[in-house]
Amino acid sequence: MYYPDELVEEIRTKNDIVDVISGYVKIQKKGSSYFGLCPFHNEKSPSFSVSPGKQMYYCFGCGAGGNVFTFLMEYENYSFQEAVKALAQRAGVSLPEAEFNEEARKRESRRARLLEVNKEAAKYFYYQLRGEKGHAGYQYLRKRQLSDETIHRFGLGFANVTSDDLTKYLKNKGYEDKLIQEAGLAAFDEKYGMHDKFWNRVMFPIQDINHRVIGFGGRVMGEGKPKYLNSPETMIFDKSRNLYGLNFARTSRTNNIILCEGYMDVIAMHQAGFSQAVASLGTAFTEGQANLLRRYAQEVILAYDSDNAGVMAALRAIGILKEAGLTGKVLNLEPYKDPDEFMKNLGREAFQERIAQAENSFFFELRMLQRDYDLNDPESKTRFHREIAKKLCGFSEEVERENYIEAVAKKYHIGFENLRKLVLACAAQTGLAKPAARPKSGIQAKKDPRENQKKPQKLLLTWLVEEPALYQKIKKYISPSDFTEDLYRIIAEKLFEDLDQGSLNPAAVISLFADEEQQREAAGVFNARLSELSTRAEQEKAFHDIVVAVKRNSLEYFSSRQGADVSAITRVIEGKKALEELSKTHISLD
Ligand code: CTP
Ligand code: MN
Repeated sequence: MYYPDELVEEIRTKNDIVDVISGYVKIQKKGSSYFGLCPFHNEKSPSFSVSPGKQMYYCFGCGAGGNVFTFLMEYENYSFQEAVKALAQRAGVSLPEAEFNEEARKRESRRARLLEVNKEAAKYFYYQLRGEKGHAGYQYLRKRQLSDETIHRFGLGFANVTSDDLTKYLKNKGYEDKLIQEAGLAAFDEKYGMHDKFWNRVMFPIQDINHRVIGFGGRVMGEGKPKYLNSPETMIFDKSRNLYGLNFARTSRTNNIILCEGYMDVIAMHQAGFSQAVASLGTAFTEGQANLLRRYAQEVILAYDSDNAGVMAALRAIGILKEAGLTGKVLNLEPYKDPDEFMKNLGREAFQERIAQAENSFFFELRMLQRDYDLNDPESKTRFHREIAKKLCGFSEEVERENYIEAVAKKYHIGFENLRKLVLACAAQTGLAKPAARPKSGIQAKKDPRENQKKPQKLLLTWLVEEPALYQKIKKYISPSDFTEDLYRIIAEKLFEDLDQGSLNPAAVISLFADEEQQREAAGVFNARLSELSTRAEQEKAFHDIVVAVKRNSLEYFSSRQGADVSAITRVIEGKKALEELSKTHISLD
């Protein structure tokens, strides 16, 4: 849902940032700002600041920053829309209902009904487990060493042996056959009529990130096939875009996510305090799930079963993680089969150690590859080295590739130069991999060569925020279109407009961006510290250099587009003139 700017702004101004953040973080007044320990990284002395004047927060330690919306997005892992909604509610501002067309409205109400019937079913299973008929289920879960608290937290339940119990219950509550079938909770059969899909199983409700039940997994108690029965995909249950346990993992505030294979693994991990554990939903790990995880962590630790199937699944997952730009690591659970078993036998400290020792996913791949070769046979060994070289071609970035060549050469006792030559030969044949798509829109990763062009643009904005009086002195040379970086241009447009009116409103600028990364970057502009140049003369020179750099970059940019763009020509002529003038002009900071 898109909310109009004025409404977003109204909601923002009605939620004082100091009030909101005080609800989450202990902050103390110091001068004109408040300071506290940053909730976004570990620290011992406070570098997290909240400015009532700017209505923004900023951490001088980790660079987290933004307005009141950004804070909720980062802290609660909300989307921009979710943050707007939450703060609207907090301030008692009513939001307009989404304007749906007829078909969309129908779909929406169908979705809502499906969620309702699932919730009702989850409730039913939950109470069954605690009733007389659920004894076997409860015993089973306790035997698997789940505490009452854990059973409650994951909303575990029981489907008893009667095969139309749930259907009857749901119909009684007013849900029609068709909906119950569509939710995958029951099926219709000529001979038996409506009958429940799940019976005589312990039930694992599957929740989306907002804790809404979207499906179920049901396990037989003990042996028996199939071991698990899962809800089919429905309008609300997309198995490739949800993960079991993510509703809790999203707020775990760890810098990694632990990816397991099974529901029981996730539950055992959470019970032991590793609330960052998730699992896919009875299907292989997908690209959609990797993209989802990217919102919560940069590093994913694979805790798959140690058997061969687990290894194969891990190798597949590694490829998917890499495509998504995530770092993958692989946990060694030996001599145990899976995280659940490991935890039962060796406990959490041992598991924590294994996390620290988790293997770089590339080395894991090589180790698995090596199993097919006999390194005592020169022929086989050479083929192995060629395979390694081929894999090394997968690193598109030179620095990374070189680092890996170095590490692999050392590990496998191959001469560095030899391996390097092998990689280059291989690259000549097959070409190097294309650079992987970088996460999120707009913002480029640090290593980007454009960084050099971006920096002066950012610094100029920071100067103008810190010393608004400078605006009058540079406005005849610089306009928002000189900011060739989209993000900075958007900021400049708003900032220049504000400065023309003589009023600065940094926090409002942040709301121009719906993306958390962009908000963070924008906040950086308003909170950066200008370099600590000592003399006024040095400062003036620095500022002059920045203005010239921005103008020169803009000139180059528009020169390269002259053919394509008529207005570019005007920009180029104007740019040359401005640069010439600037070279003769002294801009005083006073
Ligand atoms: N799975 C499934 N259907 C099956 C077997 C497995 O959907 N017949 C899925 C489930 O999501 C399960 C996961 O694959 O959680 C991993 O399977 P497995 O390791 O066999 O089960 P665990 O969850 O580890 O359960 P347990 O510890 O009870 O064996
Ligand atoms: Mn398992």
